[in-house]
Amino acid sequence: MNLLVTAGPTREPIDPVRFLSNRSTGKMGFAVAQAAAEAGWAVTLVAGPVALPTPPGVRRVDVTTALEMLAAVERELPACDVFVSAAAVADWRPEASSPVKLKKAAMGGTLRLVPNPDILKTVRPLKGARRFVGFAAETGEPTAEAARKLREKGLDLIVANDVTAPGAGFAVETNRVTFLFPDGRREALPLLSKREVAQKLIERLPCL
Ligand code: CTP
Repeated sequence: MNLLVTAGPTREPIDPVRFLSNRSTGKMGFAVAQAAAEAGWAVTLVAGPVALPTPPGVRRVDVTTALEMLAAVERELPACDVFVSAAAVADWRPEASSPVKLKKAAMGGTLRLVPNPDILKTVRPLKGARRFVGFAAETGEPTAEAARKLREKGLDLIVANDVTAPGAGFAVETNRVTFLFPDGRREALPLLSKREVAQKLIERLPCL
């Protein structure tokens, strides 16, 4: 069985030295890739710019921008049985990216942005019998927003977490998450290492 997972942030260039991005480190998505490989899945990991080693046995495709991540997902999706979208895709990108460093005097105080595509929604027509898993990183009680995203993105499972809760969020080794399923079932997990969260997620896949 083949599993495709995205991880990390995307980086949206303003010019060769400046970019828009977010605080994702890729730890959760890389843990999913590792747990899946250890459980015998053939794993393709589409990774944004992160400072993490490739887990053993995982095929890695590096990308930088959201548009590059979308293109990689569209290319890799047909061969997968499960798609886990753990990446923190930048929702906006600069309208134009300069090939040369912009001089501050020429920049003014306004940066014009255009929306990036929603990767999960864009590839939804290609879903077929595949299982799609998403993540919802919220600040504050996450399950209401996660339930909305589960429905709107047509997912089979969403992993909700409050990134501001103690032991959860960016650049830490632990996470406290709730799994939400389309039939309304919820499973609140205790504080676990990201590795253990990933293992629990992989264990749930055959039941989706
Ligand atoms: N996602 C995606 N493409 C985007 C943004 C998000 O595929 N352009 C995926 C993420 O990988 C995650 C899920 O959608 O699995 C939820 O992402 P999140 O950032 O929590 O939600 P958004 O859809 O960006 O909504 P909002 O900004 O309103 O919270």
